[in-house]
Amino acid sequence: MMGVAAISPRGERFELAVSERVTLTADPLSQPPVSHTDIGAAIRGKILFVTSELAGLVKTGGLGDVSAALPRALHALHDVRVLMPGYPQVLNSGNPVHVIGELGGHAALPPCKIGRMDMKDGLVIYVVICPELYEREGTPYVDDNGRDWPDNHIRFARLGLAAADFAAGALTPLWHPELVHAHDWPAGLAPAYMRWRGQATPSVFTIHNLAYQGMVSRASRRELGIPEHALGLDGMEFHGKLSLLKAGMAYANHITTVSATYAREITTPGFGCGLDGFLHSKAEQGLLSGIANGIDASWDPETDDHLICRFGANDWAGKAMNAEYVRRLFDLRPSTGPLFAVVSRLVFQKGLDLTIGVAAHIVSQGGQIVVIGRGEPEEEQAVRELALGFPGQVGVRIGFNETDARRMFAGSDFLLMPSRYEPCGLSQMYAQRFGSLPVARKTGGLADTIEDGVSGFLFDEPTLESYTAALTRAINVFANPELLNAMRCRAMRAPFNWHQAIKPYSRLYLRLLKTSRSMAPTLDGETS
Ligand code: ADP
Ligand code: GLC
Repeated sequence: MMGVAAISPRGERFELAVSERVTLTADPLSQPPVSHTDIGAAIRGKILFVTSELAGLVKTGGLGDVSAALPRALHALHDVRVLMPGYPQVLNSGNPVHVIGELGGHAALPPCKIGRMDMKDGLVIYVVICPELYEREGTPYVDDNGRDWPDNHIRFARLGLAAADFAAGALTPLWHPELVHAHDWPAGLAPAYMRWRGQATPSVFTIHNLAYQGMVSRASRRELGIPEHALGLDGMEFHGKLSLLKAGMAYANHITTVSATYAREITTPGFGCGLDGFLHSKAEQGLLSGIANGIDASWDPETDDHLICRFGANDWAGKAMNAEYVRRLFDLRPSTGPLFAVVSRLVFQKGLDLTIGVAAHIVSQGGQIVVIGRGEPEEEQAVRELALGFPGQVGVRIGFNETDARRMFAGSDFLLMPSRYEPCGLSQMYAQRFGSLPVARKTGGLADTIEDGVSGFLFDEPTLESYTAALTRAINVFANPELLNAMRCRAMRAPFNWHQAIKPYSRLYLRLLKTSRSMAPTLDGETS
């Protein structure tokens, strides 16, 4: 079989069978096979990722990690570039930004400039420069007091409209996207504006978290330039309001989410956040797929410079040095008992209340707990109080720091992830790679990436009883070093990478590109 040279996300060269790259099989596409000859010679699609965060510049959670890693991994197969808002963290990142064009305003959306930023490794990021919307302190979504920016609908509509303008060829004749891939509610209006304006460019919308819906009042319709026909149930209407997330789902050509189990769960009332009927119908039409996230090559305890001591499978002394550091960092007493870590946004989704509920049990069994993260003020307060209740045994740092997070994955014996729902979850994969066994709820991507009793411990119900039973199994394994080390080795060798994920995304792109290129063949052959 003919092959082409490619570079894996871990930087290894490998041979990719052509049929593997371009032949469609079953789900997520459930369409007849397409070979690359069907779509002409130019099989590298020009793909524009639209996202509100990107790790290395600005990140509040896993969306940032995926936005940074997936375009880079897909580069082996497609020309993927990114469009994101020009926050201070982006504009002041030290990478030169060259203005390539201007876009006019629309309704209450102000005009903006578009800058091009070339990252050192070749990733091209287009930046929406609009100081009045983006140049503020705080995170992409909230101010320094944790309050949503009141004009978030305008801020992210501006992002979506810029994507639509870009796809319409408004910026540069040299490179305009043949497919727009929008992520989560902040990018939800990109597919919508394209559809409302009759643009033929196909779009994909990825749900990273269905619970964050980007709701705005119907009165905002005029501000955002939303046509009246979009207010129906098939459009972006949701319980008398408008949902930017639903806009993305309603108008994209295909919806994906970040694990197979979550793709099924969100079509049911328990996980559908009121959109299960809508999603069930999309699934029946073959328009909803689950594609699991991967992790990038930087997550390797043998090479990670953030660690106090780098280590590989079976080098448990190296791992122990990281544990010692973590205990000191969190002012814990010296101990030979199990060390449990929480590295998480502190929000209801993540089940922090459940961990608080089992903390006394863990400590009574000789365990210690370290928590890093930030999030909702009540959750932050609750974990602070937990630390006060168990001095020397429970340590908490409110905030986030990538280096400490990596050291915690490396130093801990177990990662606690009792999520109520988890679209994919990256932390449990990071932990496994660093030899920390996840104790996690069997839901979404956690169910798909943890082998119960082999690379971690799963429990079914979000209850203290179910959680405690899994913890008891974990603590029993800790008491048996042979078994513990065997599980650590299995976890560290789990094949998490982006190589698997890019194949179904590529198949999806190729199917959509095939249709649109047959309608607009002149797009082929342009170069940047
Ligand atoms: P989610 O995206 O729901 O937070 P994931 O497990 O997919 O969960 O991704 C978590 C990622 O975000 C990891 O890289 C983790 O280290 C990081 N992270 C966790 N908490 C925070 C936080 N408070 N701020 C920034 N990043 C965080
Ligand atoms: C969301 C989800 C998380 C997922 C991440 C990246 O934040 O909560 O489960 O891993 O997006 O897709």
